[in-house]
Amino acid sequence: MAERVVLAYSGGLDTSVAVRWLMEHRGVDVVAVAVDVGQGSSTGGEDWEAMSQRALAAGAVEATVVDARAQMAEEFCVPALMANARYEGKYPLVSALSRPVIVKHLVAAARSHGARGVAHGCTGKGNDQVRFEVGIRALAPDLEVFAPAREWGFSRQDSIDYAAKWEIPLTASKEKLYSIDENLWGRAIECGVIEDPWNRPPEDVYAMTIPTATEPTEVTVGFESGVPVSIDGERLDPLPLIAGLNRLVGAYGFGRLDMVENRRVGIKSRETYECPGALALLLAHADLEDLTLERDLHHEKLRLEPRWSELVYDGLWFSPLKQALDAFLVESQRFVTGEVRLALDSGRCWVVGRRSPASLYDHGLATYDATDTFRHQDAEGFVRIWGLGVARWATVQHKDGGSADDVGPTGGLRP
Ligand code: ARG
Repeated sequence: MAERVVLAYSGGLDTSVAVRWLMEHRGVDVVAVAVDVGQGSSTGGEDWEAMSQRALAAGAVEATVVDARAQMAEEFCVPALMANARYEGKYPLVSALSRPVIVKHLVAAARSHGARGVAHGCTGKGNDQVRFEVGIRALAPDLEVFAPAREWGFSRQDSIDYAAKWEIPLTASKEKLYSIDENLWGRAIECGVIEDPWNRPPEDVYAMTIPTATEPTEVTVGFESGVPVSIDGERLDPLPLIAGLNRLVGAYGFGRLDMVENRRVGIKSRETYECPGALALLLAHADLEDLTLERDLHHEKLRLEPRWSELVYDGLWFSPLKQALDAFLVESQRFVTGEVRLALDSGRCWVVGRRSPASLYDHGLATYDATDTFRHQDAEGFVRIWGLGVARWATVQHKDGGSADDVGPTGGLRP
């Protein structure tokens, strides 16, 4: 019996061809593992049985499907929400979150099969190879990694011909115009006409944000210690909660992103995303933090969030800095409990109210009406001492600073 390799199988052309290629060129038996992270979100579900059959038809000795949707929601989407994670301030890490989930299951399968290594179908140009391989090395440094799509040098037509030669069945699919990666947290669309960053994405790239709702509405999201726990008062686990919000918010056409992003491998790429549930939850969660986080904690967290997002984007989900930041994140969320009201109307989703039993908002301190409890006289001394250093500087070193013809920071230069 040949040695075994566990392949991250998606059912698409490349991973199907990879099954046969690994057998032919590396002399190994291939175990195909498909991990359900919610890639059927927009289509009502993948046909996992058909996918397994395809893997076996391509030559796999075994094909398994792992339902990791709840795990994806609880262990990956929820932490990303706690971190308000948006790579380069925009992209909520959709694909970057699913790769470590898949890695966990590949490594588990490799162990149970006594496999020699793990394989993936990524090319050399993207981030996903980085996430797979760095993740595998973090969890199982002894396993070999195989990346056939980086080695075979096939064009798309070569792959189709190779599949035909080995009678590998392909889906008569629409995958075809675009490269699509989808999970519970959203959908990433690349390739085709949108490779020109000037081209507007054709309407047919979208699947999760097709505007069908006509009446404006509101939805209330409840959180406990940073975890979303309810929709309109109904308690839900993260998986049905996120899936439900995807449907509700997506029906208003909210959640689309169009950006040029910096991949880890140095390439700028034009990306189109749709992440209705994620973007709505991110709005709500960040707003509840505004209400409940003490100022210094909040400001420090805002500085760390982009770092967390970069680490995850760059494939360092399993890494010591990420772990340490996770500990900070969890601690920061202790009082992020309460509810946020979101309004939905054509193409828009915005916060219209928030409340919390741990709110740091004090109406008596904030109000300008007669119920004011703020001690105005305290402000005088506070402001004088706050500005004391600047006052000394002005007296001794900046005597002319206040004149009306002060040249200002440009030194008087005009554009
Ligand atoms: N650019 C995004 C990322 O790196 C999306 C990648 C999507 N992957 C794909 N195979 N289409 O996270």
